[in-house]
Formats: sequence, structure tokens, C-alpha cells
Amino acid sequence: MDSYIIESNKKKSRMPARLDFAQSGTGLILGLFMWVHMLLVGSIILGKGSFNFVAKTMELAFLSDTGHGFPIAVFFAVLIVFTLFIIHALLGVRKFPISWKQHRIMRDQMQMMNHTDTNLWYIQVVTGFIMFFAGSVHLYIMLTNPGSIDPYLSADRIVSGNMWPLYLILLICVELHGTIGLYRLCMKWGWFSGQDARKSRKKLKALKNKLTIFFLTVGILALLVFIVIGINHRDRVGERYTKHDTAVEQVQEPKEAQPADVTHDKG
Ligand code: HEM
Repeated sequence: MDSYIIESNKKKSRMPARLDFAQSGTGLILGLFMWVHMLLVGSIILGKGSFNFVAKTMELAFLSDTGHGFPIAVFFAVLIVFTLFIIHALLGVRKFPISWKQHRIMRDQMQMMNHTDTNLWYIQVVTGFIMFFAGSVHLYIMLTNPGSIDPYLSADRIVSGNMWPLYLILLICVELHGTIGLYRLCMKWGWFSGQDARKSRKKLKALKNKLTIFFLTVGILALLVFIVIGINHRDRVGERYTKHDTAVEQVQEPKEAQPADVTHDKG
């Protein structure tokens, strides 16, 4: 009885709409950031020199006479992205089916409606949940090691530091979550809707699928290149890349140390 009375007297709060707007806003920024981020990380596909150039540019090395970078710049960039990431996750939790009953209702609706956009929403929830953990690990490492982004140190982190499984899971989650999220923002706010809404929805969905495939391909290729470099660099973990390291790397097993006297005897 009391709660009913309190509720009916109160004016309808605008807070949920404001929170939705904030979630869309942080989602838009993070989604576009991830596209840029993946292209920057993808520069490793063009070679160690290109990745090193991108890493140094992100460290604002062009501002120093000696060409050395300022990792503090990366630190602040990560701090901003991490803060947006946490705010977006906090706002996202509001929409999670938190009880078994809610989960059951949602699954039943999905089966009943069999509507792709509803299924896409479920993918958002699952990938969002996984990124709570995988994304936070990556961001914390970047926050505490802002000066460790270079072709060898990144490859060492991925292979000798065993980060590749986390990156693979995170890559699939973030590419699905990001492109589905941007597509749903277009649907929600009517962006690019054109004359025929049904037609533009179809076009946007096709574009979403193409972008997901493109960024997943770039991400997986970059990860494979890092793994090749990391395998070759296993015996020099922690050594930084220098511009002289242009030698083409081949995947080769680290040579077993041959005891000197064996061959001579045979001779
Ligand atoms: C400013 C913030 C960020 C910075 C500076 C950053 C930096 C990097 C760097 C340097 C790599 C290459 C591997 C390494 O050095 O360990 C990388 C890989 C990756 N990052 Fe980030 N990252 C940031 C934010 C994020 C966020 C928010 C996500 C997703 C939630 C993310 C997802 C990934 C993924 C999936 C990879 C693996 C890429 C691949 O598969 O090739 N990053 N990041």
C-alpha cells in the first residue's frame, strides 16, 4: 500500500532515458574507438616497422627532438577509455536479465519471435558479460605498461606472456558487440534511415555483417603475425624493437645448443 501511494504521487523520472542516452553515447565512442584501435594494431600486418611507427606516433614521439615517445600520453588515453568502458558496462548491467525467471522469459520470447534483432540483443548481453573480465585485464595491462607497446614487446606479451587466448576471445566479443551495438544505435535513433526504413534496415544489417567480417579478419591476421614474431623472439623476451631489426623473420624452432665436441669426433 505505502509503495503504491509513493509511486503514484511521483512525476515520471527522466533518469532512465538519460541513462539510455549515456549508454548510447559511451557505446558510440567505444565502438568507433575499437575500429580505429583495430586498424592501428593491424599495422603489424604491414610489418614491424609500420607497427613501431604507429606505436611511437601514439606516444607523440613527433613532439620530441630525439624521437623517443611519451608513454604518459598512452597512459591518459587508456585512462579515458577505461573510464568510458566502466561507465558503459555499469549502464549496460541495467538491461541484463539478472534472475533465472527474467532469463527464461527472454529465451521464450526469442524462440517465439525468432526475430534477428532480438537474437542480436542476446549476443550483446553475452559478449558484454565476457568483456567485463577480458577487456578489464587488457586495459589494466595497458594502463600499467603504457611504454611497452612495440613489435617485440607486444609479441612477447601475446606469446611468452600467454595473452593470445584472451585476445582471441576478446577480439570475437568486441567485434560482435561493437558492430551490433552501432547497428542497434542506428535503429534506435533512426540514423541513416532514408525513405524506406525496411530497405535501409536491410542495407545497414548487410554493412554490419561486412564490417564484422572485415575487422575480425584484420584482428585474426594481426594476432597470427604477432604469434609468428613472438615464437621467433622467445629467446630474447623483453628486448625492444629498434629500427635496425628489419631482418625478415621465418618461423623456426629455437636452435638446440649443440655440444661443441660431438661433430668433430665424427669427422
Ligand atoms: C586506449 C586503450 C587501449 C590501448 C592503448 C590498447 C592497445 C593495444 C595493443 C598495443 C594491442 C596489441 C597487443 C599488445 O601489445 O598486447 C592491443 C590488442 C588488442 N586490444 Fe587493445 N587497447 C586498448 C583498448 C582496448 C579495448 C577497450 C578493447 C576491447 C574491449 C581492446 C581489445 C583488443 C584486442 C581484441 C586486441 C587483440 C588484437 C588482435 O587480435 O590482433 N583494446 N590493444
